[in-house]
Amino acid sequence: MNNSSILLISSNETTSIAIGDALSEIEGAQISRQDTSVSQLNGAAVETASGYDIVIFATDPDNSVELSAIETLTNTRKDGTIYLALTDADLPLSKARTLTRAGVDDVLPYPAPNGEIIEQVSQWIEKRRAEVEERYSSRDTHGQLIAVQQARGGIGATTIAVNLADQLLDKRGTFKKEAFNRVVIVDLDLQFGTVGDFLDVEEQEGLLQLAVENFLPDTNWVEQSLVRLPSGLAVLAAPQQFAPLDSLQPEQVSTLIATLKTMFDYVVVDLPRALVNWIEPILTETDRLYIVMDMTVPAVRASRRLMDFVLADNSELSIELVVNREKKPMMLREHHREAAKALDASFSHWIPDDPKAARTAIDFGKPLSEVAGRSDLSKGILQLARTTLTQMPKDGSVVRV
Ligand SMILES: Nc1ncnc2c1ncn2[C@@H]1O[C@H](COP(=O)(O)OP(=O)(O)OP(=O)(O)O)[C@@H](O)[C@H]1O
Ligand SMILES: [Mg+2]
Repeated sequence: MNNSSILLISSNETTSIAIGDALSEIEGAQISRQDTSVSQLNGAAVETASGYDIVIFATDPDNSVELSAIETLTNTRKDGTIYLALTDADLPLSKARTLTRAGVDDVLPYPAPNGEIIEQVSQWIEKRRAEVEERYSSRDTHGQLIAVQQARGGIGATTIAVNLADQLLDKRGTFKKEAFNRVVIVDLDLQFGTVGDFLDVEEQEGLLQLAVENFLPDTNWVEQSLVRLPSGLAVLAAPQQFAPLDSLQPEQVSTLIATLKTMFDYVVVDLPRALVNWIEPILTETDRLYIVMDMTVPAVRASRRLMDFVLADNSELSIELVVNREKKPMMLREHHREAAKALDASFSHWIPDDPKAARTAIDFGKPLSEVAGRSDLSKGILQLARTTLTQMPKDGSVVRV
């Protein structure tokens, strides 16, 4: 299933309602209305229009204020938004050209029969869909899937998943502004997920829609469902409402993962603690599983059980233990050695206890790198990210500098 979000801007409410009704016949079309004009929206137009696939606005090209407002809008277009101008049906061709010069993709004469409007808009929806598809298919990306699982509640798995994803961007350049990698963080802790809180992103309904309606997600759906932060990090947050965990089908999840892998170099997944039936397709595709734990007996036992469970069907899976809230000791102490023995595994990563930095990041709703970059916690996670990047270089023959 594909949804297309359409924004209708017209100060004539009757026109707006009539067109909205007509377009609602297009499958998957989600229509919003703003009963005003582009110039009346003024500075808010860009903000209002952002996030829509298609923006249709009624306008008069003789009005120079309108024309310059339209130019501002099309000049700041994001993610290939399509702009369609709705004009008087008798508009001379030269006037229509003024609009296309102002950056409008197409001019739709109005009034026109519903069928015609539907057909024209549908063609643009199709064109945009093909473009998004093309943008990703030509990249030929085979992203790496990194899953983060917690050994017990509140252990710090989300803190690590979110900040690991942020550091995997591998920012470069003079002001460290350019992300070298394309990274997405996906909150699959559908019911209790807090990734959105950590990054100050509103809850998103995409994953709920996926759970409730039974369709297979494609690049268009992913593109519409995620939010991109200024850093470049893409976020697929958990929904606000309780999503019934088992209504998500394993096939949907495996399609989601496969799609994400074609779109991003690194896909970081914050897993739910419940071992639901769609965990298996994730594990099959996982390139690295980080289990976040500590040295408490329950966490060590849970880690052991998790490893047994995961390895039973995925014996080749690379699992690494991340000890949270403890600095790497110079030498393992007795209780460390005992835990390692019980787990039959070694501790690969240690993230220091740093309540102040952890708290600051939550309060700001920002990654540690932005608000507490020099903290021990941030440095610990940076180290984890660096090791990850070295051990799992992004695919392709990119020469790392
Ligand atoms: N290394 C750390 N030092 C200090 N505080 C930490 C550290 N890691 C995480 N925390 C804090 O511990 C709390 C729980 O962290 P977080 O939400 O990441 O854990 P979780 O395992 O995802 O929990 P949940 O069970 O809610 O999913 C948060 O308040 C977080 O700021
Ligand atoms: Mg969590």
